[in-house]
Amino acid sequence: MPDIKKSLDGQIAVVTGAAHGIGLAISRQLAAQGARVVMADVLEEAVSASAKTVQTETGSDTLSWVGDLSREDCVQALLHATLERFGKATILVNNAGGGVIRPFLEHTPETLRATIDRNLWTTLWCCRVFLPDMISLGYGRIINIGADSVRNGLWQHAAYNAAKGGMHGLTTGLAREFAKHGITVNTVAPCAVRTVALEKVQEVNPAFADQVLEVIPMGRAAEVDEVASMAVYLAGKSAAFVTGQVISVNGGSTML
Ligand SMILES: NC(=O)c1ccc[n+]([C@@H]2O[C@H](COP(=O)([O-])OP(=O)(O)OC[C@H]3O[C@@H](n4cnc5c(N)ncnc54)[C@H](O)[C@@H]3O)[C@@H](O)[C@H]2O)c1
Repeated sequence: MPDIKKSLDGQIAVVTGAAHGIGLAISRQLAAQGARVVMADVLEEAVSASAKTVQTETGSDTLSWVGDLSREDCVQALLHATLERFGKATILVNNAGGGVIRPFLEHTPETLRATIDRNLWTTLWCCRVFLPDMISLGYGRIINIGADSVRNGLWQHAAYNAAKGGMHGLTTGLAREFAKHGITVNTVAPCAVRTVALEKVQEVNPAFADQVLEVIPMGRAAEVDEVASMAVYLAGKSAAFVTGQVISVNGGSTML
């Protein structure tokens, strides 16, 4: 059988927060399109198991990497591990994150810092550390996973939105600054996504889960693969003229 060319053959993708949920779905879809994928997370056992699963399912080479990506030294180590194994990084998906979701005045200094660290600092350091290599290649795709709650001010999401809104803002500035280097920078902004975390909220606080879901005209949470497919589109060569965009995958919960 002749090899069938896949759309991301030859590409090297780094996906942060890839142990489970949306990051795992993105890694799986990128690998299915032929990309070799570095899957990074703080959760050692989970990310190592997920990387093995993706490699077995898709036949694409994966590398699992463990560390706290809100620290510059760890992100430098991730870059070195990527270059050592694959020689370059052409796609960066800033998916690490997750919210401490609660009414604003119930936050503590620790939960506020954790919210910014997980979402915004991981993204800032990854962009800063991976961009020089993309500039030298004259090619790159950066995809941030933001949040549609930035657009609709969802209940209990103010601090989380401060972090995700920072990611949205970073997107436009980086897109302008690096467009001439063949690098695109975009954000995918999901509404509530059907993950283990959402199922837990539905179990322990069904009233809040209803509040989050009732803003979605389609009447349900997104599936992880529905978010991943937008990220994979933006990672491809056919999205070459799409940059600086925040694209919602939200069942219509905000429009335009
Ligand atoms: N699930 C949703 O409803 C939803 C909605 C909108 C946006 N998002 C965003 O999508 C992304 C993925 O969400 P999810 O629900 O699949 O998973 P998640 O929110 O549980 O977290 C993603 C992963 O990031 C990792 N991570 C967090 N901080 C890290 C750090 N400092 N260094 C390395 N890894 C770190 C976690 O270990 C986890 O595996 C997150 O950025 C989240 O904020 C999720």
